Amino acid sequence: MNTFEAINTRRAIKKFDSTYKMSPEQVSSLMELTILSPTSYNQQNWRFITVTDQLIKEQISKAARNQSQPSDGSLVIILCGNMNAWKEDPLRYWKNSTLEKQEYVKNALHTKYAENPQNQRDEAMRSCGFAGQTIMLAARQMGLDSCPMVGFEYDELAKIINLPEDHLIVLMIVVGKASEPANPRGGQLSLDKVVFENRF
Ligand SMILES: Cc1cc2nc3c(=O)[nH]c(=O)nc-3n(C[C@H](O)[C@H](O)[C@H](O)COP(=O)(O)O)c2cc1C
Repeated sequence: MNTFEAINTRRAIKKFDSTYKMSPEQVSSLMELTILSPTSYNQQNWRFITVTDQLIKEQISKAARNQSQPSDGSLVIILCGNMNAWKEDPLRYWKNSTLEKQEYVKNALHTKYAENPQNQRDEAMRSCGFAGQTIMLAARQMGLDSCPMVGFEYDELAKIINLPEDHLIVLMIVVGKASEPANPRGGQLSLDKVVFENRF
């Protein structure tokens, strides 16, 4: 499958085949690809909870207002942002580079995120957004389907995954095999409604 096909065939699946189970190797390959997603200053501020345990998946379904995807899909990935990634040993984000570069990035991160929770939060949203699309497109290449979800009770899900205070849940993605095709597309806006040349 090429990239265009993956983009065209990725759909938000509502019904997953509950008998299909991904292998640990498949989960690991998917996550290895996911962490190649871009982040500002390479700060890698996403944290991923991968859930395959059936009991926990069922708890997640309950927190997701009884939507069936988490319990029936093979893998539930909770994409979280670490609000303090910018200051947690930041030299490691450029460990393959010069010390000079490492120090430069450390200072730049401090300038942008210290005492700026809005920037920390915005960055979590951006990073998890990119990672989410990587997950869904890589899943297609692996012959799998997915559903991005935010229809869940935040506090309930936070409790299930033991969310640290300085992290937030950005979204959840269920991966598995569809047992029914997606609903017909809702209706895309035409390009002229969303694309503007040079300026609004
Ligand atoms: C941030 C986000 C949250 C979503 N939450 C849910 C959800 O809780 N349950 C669900 O069935 N679909 C959910 N969806 C899927 C959207 O309804 C779907 O992506 C949209 O209708 C477009 O359809 P498509 O993804 O098949 O092209 C969500 C999608 C996004 C991007």
